[in-house]
Amino acid sequence: MNIFEIYKIALDLLKSKTETIMLIEKVFGLNRIDISLNPYLKVDENKKNIFFEYVYRIKNGEPIQYVLGKTSFFGLDLKVGPGVFIPRPETELLVEYIFNNFKKNFSGNVIDLCSGSGAIAICIKNYFKNSKVWAIEKSSKAFNYLVENAKINNTKIKYIFGDIFDEFSKFKDNKFDIIISNPPYIKTDDIEKLDKNVKFEPYMALDGGKDGLDFYRNILKFWLPKLKKNGIMIFELGINQHEKVKKILQNYKFYNMKILKDFSNIERIAIIGIMYKLAV
Ligand SMILES: C[S@@+](CC[C@H](N)C(=O)[O-])C[C@H]1O[C@@H](n2cnc3c(N)ncnc32)[C@H](O)[C@@H]1O
Repeated sequence: MNIFEIYKIALDLLKSKTETIMLIEKVFGLNRIDISLNPYLKVDENKKNIFFEYVYRIKNGEPIQYVLGKTSFFGLDLKVGPGVFIPRPETELLVEYIFNNFKKNFSGNVIDLCSGSGAIAICIKNYFKNSKVWAIEKSSKAFNYLVENAKINNTKIKYIFGDIFDEFSKFKDNKFDIIISNPPYIKTDDIEKLDKNVKFEPYMALDGGKDGLDFYRNILKFWLPKLKKNGIMIFELGINQHEKVKKILQNYKFYNMKILKDFSNIERIAIIGIMYKLAV
């Protein structure tokens, strides 16, 4: 079989030129130009079998990032695979907010709760070289990716394998300038209704409890005391959660919340802190 025949069959199955080319690059090391210059190039039989195994995994709903074993986040290359949540473009907005609102020489303390692949923590440490960044993750599979991603990106973060609802007790009060989190926020009953490909991702990364708000409620309860007076907490939110999180925050005198929308005009980011009292 030649490479052009392979391309045509895969395109017919996947209905996506981009995914077909990405898989061809991964397995055969050939790009779009190589295919058009050498369409009759015979392919290795073993590689062909591996290639179609990948094609069928994707056709079966598995995210392409798992099949490729990698993704990119804010320009960083990250390893991912079954067992770790795939970082999303919306989450880049949290990181972008931090980049735009802190000076490049920022040297404070940052903690990323529910760190997954480490996307947020690694990005922040990479940019603010003088900062001290902690990352907590409870799933052992995800934690292994976190450690590996920090290594391949040459980033020294302090990673903690643990539960954010236990680990808070190990930190002093008023310690962090930034507490950041993209926690699980899907209502337990809604997980079944998610797209097939999202269901390939770990349950622990999705389940936000009965009303989807367990993590916001508990992070505020356990971690707000760990925030410095002028520090900020920044969360990613699920759809229609901003008013509910605002209501939870009413239990905390002096704190206020600012909301930012994402590219689809959805209230996606909550920034919490005393300094936002007048900004809302
Ligand atoms: C939605 S994912 C986000 C991962 C990463 N922050 C990102 O944006 O790509 C949530 C992560 O929280 C982790 N997690 C769930 N419960 C946790 C807990 N109690 N303590 C620490 N991590 C937890 C999951 O394993 C998962 O990696």
